[in-house]
Amino acid sequence: MMLICIENIEDILRSKFRKQVVDQGIKDAVKFLQQWLYLSSQVTRLHGAALARVQIPDIQYLLAEIAYGECGFGNKDKIHSKLLTNLINQSVFACFITQRLNNSVVHLFEETVIGLSNMSQDEAIGFIVGLEAPAYQILQLLREALVGVGISDIEVLKSEYFVIHYDVEKEHQKSGSEAMDIIMDSGFELSKIYKGGDKAINFLTQMIA
Ligand SMILES: [Fe+2]
Repeated sequence: MMLICIENIEDILRSKFRKQVVDQGIKDAVKFLQQWLYLSSQVTRLHGAALARVQIPDIQYLLAEIAYGECGFGNKDKIHSKLLTNLINQSVFACFITQRLNNSVVHLFEETVIGLSNMSQDEAIGFIVGLEAPAYQILQLLREALVGVGISDIEVLKSEYFVIHYDVEKEHQKSGSEAMDIIMDSGFELSKIYKGGDKAINFLTQMIA
């Protein structure tokens, strides 16, 4: 029998993201940042949609905590999408990056929220785990893209957005793993968690590739 555990699932999801996104590299830094900024401004809707599926209070707590962190932990000036906008505004291409996205990306996002709202509890948890699993890879891509639009690497690394994320993503991934531990203790199937995680990786790939 194949030995599959929670850490395996996260590793499989990361390696899939690496193949589908990281190895391809960023073709258009402006477009990448435009899409990531949009996702950043909407991401808590995914946490909320997943939360709406979850019946276990301990997992409700973890998802709410991730969403609350994205929304600035009680300080609305620290909302992550605002911090990212502040950073992007240092680029001479800022007006292109912050302009409206094309409809197909918006449509994909809306369809994903609807899909998530109809998932089973364990698949929805898997989706959030999949969303968080490649966080460090995404930060690295983001760093490259920001340098690509003319912001110095030092400015990027010392920005509030990056300082917070190098700390916070660790917490998010821990929350995701904790949620999976609770799910497993509750007798859910790994295959369903994986299925949700795989959907998240495909979503991210389409969203930012
Ligand atoms: Fe964030």
